[in-house]
Amino acid sequence: MSCIDIFYIYDIMVTYYSERVNLMSEMEFIIDNIGNLPAVVNQSEEQRNEFAVNFMKFLQLTHLYDSAIKVVRTCLDILAEEFNIKFSRNPIHNIESRLKSAESIIGKLQKKNLPLTPEAASKNLLDIAGIRVTCYYISDIYYIVNILSRRDDFTIIKQKDYISKPKPSGYRSYHLIINVPVYLSSKKYYAPVEIQIRTMAMDFWASLEHQLKYKTNAKLSPEISQELKECADRIAKTDTQMQKIFMQINDLE
Ligand code: GTP
Ligand code: MG
Repeated sequence: MSCIDIFYIYDIMVTYYSERVNLMSEMEFIIDNIGNLPAVVNQSEEQRNEFAVNFMKFLQLTHLYDSAIKVVRTCLDILAEEFNIKFSRNPIHNIESRLKSAESIIGKLQKKNLPLTPEAASKNLLDIAGIRVTCYYISDIYYIVNILSRRDDFTIIKQKDYISKPKPSGYRSYHLIINVPVYLSSKKYYAPVEIQIRTMAMDFWASLEHQLKYKTNAKLSPEISQELKECADRIAKTDTQMQKIFMQINDLE
């Protein structure tokens, strides 16, 4: 059975069995049950056992990344609450998180010519766990970046300020990839989490631009790309203006 099968079956199994696997967490449970899956039914016992081991590794990997997301979300919740107590407003409008699907993990490993294994995924892909934080003002973004950067239990692996230096497309956001500690029963593990921090205005543009690209399923023409960039620049001007108004009203200049 190829690793691609393992990734796909993994997705199916997580859906069907996650509740019971969580309860029993037993390798025998998986070995007993994979026999019922069409893709595994004609495999030798050795292959089934190998599959069960790989499946277990995927389950552990997913649990680790999911836990790392929870750690960062809790940290952000606490920060937002503290900010609210101090300044009577929440700097964060919304937090979304996602784990990369098995399909995208495979796609990215294939693109990078890497083996399709859980080990290769965790070693080479830094965006399996992703969090998107939408803020009200540009200054809120830097407030959050500053605090996350100062934490001694988080290690910043990558940092890109696409706000002071927007991408040629016009895309703006602050990107951080942070190594996050997760305490499991046996020891402390680390997992990278990609955090995209942007204002509501930046999110508005990025979401629509992504949708337009995805919907057309083809490269956008230079004219359309130019128009989209102009929209991004106009939106950025409004964002800066709103920030100025906020500073004026609150005597923060
Ligand atoms: P990936 O391999 O796509 O993860 O790129 P990368 O590792 O070079 O990171 P980069 O900072 O370029 O982008 C990471 C993520 O930012 C993407 O997966 C998107 O979610 C977002 N992003 C980057 N550029 C754009 C853009 O031009 N438009 C939109 N809508 N999103 C973008
Ligand atoms: Mg990515």
